[in-house]
Amino acid sequence: MTTAPIHAVVNLDLPGPTISRHVYGHFAEHLGRCVYGGFWVGEDSDQPNIGGIRADVVEALREIRIPNLRWPGGCFADEYHWRDGIGPREARPRMVNTHWGNVEETNHFGTHEFMALCELLGADPYVNGNVGSGTVQEMSQWVEYLTRDGDSPMVALRKANGREAPWRVPFWGLGNEAWGCGGNMRAEAYADLARQYATFVRDHGGNKVYRIAAGANTDDYAWTEALMKAVSCLGCSRQPNGPFQALSLHYYTNYGEGVPTGRATEFSTDDYYLTMLRAGRIEELVRRHSAVMDSYDPHRRIGLVVDEWGTWWEVEEGTNPGFLFQQNTLRDALVATVHFDAFHRHAERVVMANIAQTVNVLQAMLLTDERTGTLIRTPTYHVFAMNTAHHDARGLAVHLPGGVPTVEVGAEKLSTVSASASTKDGAALVSLTNLHAERPETVTLDLRGREVTDYEARVLTGESLNAHNSAARTDAVTPRPHTALKASAQGLEVTLPPHSYVTVRLLLAS
Ligand code: AHR
Repeated sequence: MTTAPIHAVVNLDLPGPTISRHVYGHFAEHLGRCVYGGFWVGEDSDQPNIGGIRADVVEALREIRIPNLRWPGGCFADEYHWRDGIGPREARPRMVNTHWGNVEETNHFGTHEFMALCELLGADPYVNGNVGSGTVQEMSQWVEYLTRDGDSPMVALRKANGREAPWRVPFWGLGNEAWGCGGNMRAEAYADLARQYATFVRDHGGNKVYRIAAGANTDDYAWTEALMKAVSCLGCSRQPNGPFQALSLHYYTNYGEGVPTGRATEFSTDDYYLTMLRAGRIEELVRRHSAVMDSYDPHRRIGLVVDEWGTWWEVEEGTNPGFLFQQNTLRDALVATVHFDAFHRHAERVVMANIAQTVNVLQAMLLTDERTGTLIRTPTYHVFAMNTAHHDARGLAVHLPGGVPTVEVGAEKLSTVSASASTKDGAALVSLTNLHAERPETVTLDLRGREVTDYEARVLTGESLNAHNSAARTDAVTPRPHTALKASAQGLEVTLPPHSYVTVRLLLAS
């Protein structure tokens, strides 16, 4: 049984701020089987590869138009010394990855391999430098090695390692989680370090670097305030060119008190609703961090980069606890849609976001089956695929004058319908999520301001909340054409199945 139709007003002629494609960004850490076994199999592998990089992984990520890739961490970034990862592979020093699983790190995947991967993907590199255990000189030389043209000791070293032309590196991270694994620093101490390190992350030639300071965890608004004090200069003209241009925010769904709660595939309906309540918290976090930022930067020149987000479950049975390998179900996909609606609504401040992580770790896009080598596209992957039309589109507000249905979760209320929309190139994309576990909902899209000449819809859902894809069944959860919609006097009536994500593409008359 559905409730009364939900009235959703979209003014197609009133586009808002641009939703950067970079909010659909990704993150690859030297952690578990993300880099090794996920991206990198080595040139001698039986797995089809391009210079050691899994060809099917590249193809799958190109399909979702991966805009950027953050690397090498995470916590690993603050232990990583880039010079260990250049030169002939067999001669590279080995180390122990103490953060993640205490396994050997061969350094076979280093700077050149990462840049080759980004070139194959057509993605912008986002290199995360080492502040926690590195030096200013080390970071400065890495930027020089990567991006400088002409003559210099680092350029000569790069050329000796086989790369003549400089690369373009638009995004640079100044350490990671400085409040935790990145050095257990106090906010003011880190803020000064961020200014110092950023100074030596130079723009070489035409390469303009967007420097991202390691921002807050979840609701640590004091951390954001300390960074804003360090970077802003209210009313002064040098503000946009301050030492760093953005700060990050990390928020994981279901990682409470430092521990994940529950398995990816084993949960009750109550657990599911609680997860959705926690996922929806991203909106409040973005709003409140933005409010702090607004008071120092009212013109919103400093970006907020949510460079780690997603679900964090207990690892799959029999896997290394330090590898953070988890299945990915329809529930994870709906966590993603709720995040994207929030990012779309806050496009003016949220300039980038990176789901954690791309392959085989946490809320992954792709899983690689160790036994068969099969590549599995997760339900979360399909959300990214369905949303490519939101990339660099202008946001459209979705007004819900009558509100939306709710369910009670403990003392709180969860809104069970979430929506956002955008427009570009003579079309619009409306995203509609029904979080209700059992009940379909009908949404009446009241489309104003422009004539709609045609429409089509797709739906992502599954037999159950924990439906997922596996090597045995790679398409249990996959987008399908959605036909439960019809034109009405008011616009378009769309029926959303229980626990589903629907996108409606509208063609607009010119
Ligand atoms: O994504 C896994 C880890 O989570 C990252 O290394 C760290 O930054 C965060 O705590």
